[in-house]
Amino acid sequence: MTMLDTILHRRSVRQYTDSPIPQDKLNAILYAGLAAASSKNRKPWEFVLVENRDTLNQLCNCRQGAANLLGKCKAAIVVAADSDLVDVWVEDCASAITQMHLTADALGVGSCWLQVRLRKSPDGITDTQDIVRNVLGIPEKYSVMAILTLGMPASHPGSKEICDLPLEKIHREHF
Ligand SMILES: Cc1cc2nc3c(=O)[nH]c(=O)nc-3n(C[C@H](O)[C@H](O)[C@H](O)COP(=O)(O)O)c2cc1C
Repeated sequence: MTMLDTILHRRSVRQYTDSPIPQDKLNAILYAGLAAASSKNRKPWEFVLVENRDTLNQLCNCRQGAANLLGKCKAAIVVAADSDLVDVWVEDCASAITQMHLTADALGVGSCWLQVRLRKSPDGITDTQDIVRNVLGIPEKYSVMAILTLGMPASHPGSKEICDLPLEKIHREHF
């Protein structure tokens, strides 16, 4: 499989089986995140791996729609960052999450990005990241960017085909 094949195969997987995720696969996914490029090599991200069912259930009310994912997944990686370390911590976190999302798919583990930053809980008032911080004991100075839900796929939407990509978004020489 080429890298492009791997990238085309990656999909958001939101349906999971009851099977456990092998620990070596979870470790590989975390290592992929740690190996991400980061501005000035500052590595502002922190990853919290959550496998405990009660903790995953507590996270379910962090935002609308979260219960659908966190209530069914077997594990989740919460990505937070020390935003004082570098001004482009959002990009750094996105890079790490993308590498973990891709690695999960390549290892046959389903995953989905659940947005936390800039989102509110179902009450419409509380910031999603405040709920996540409280449940996981993440210190106030860390911004919570997203949660990558993980589980063995009950179904996979299937690879993308080159012909289905929005090729009109590629511009050559001029916009
Ligand atoms: C920044 C970002 C935020 C996302 N937030 C959510 C989310 O909160 N819930 C969700 O189910 N999917 C979320 N997704 C997944 C997208 O819906 C998904 O990537 C998109 O529909 C394309 O589908 P694909 O990943 O299968 O290619 C997010 C993706 C990104 C990159």
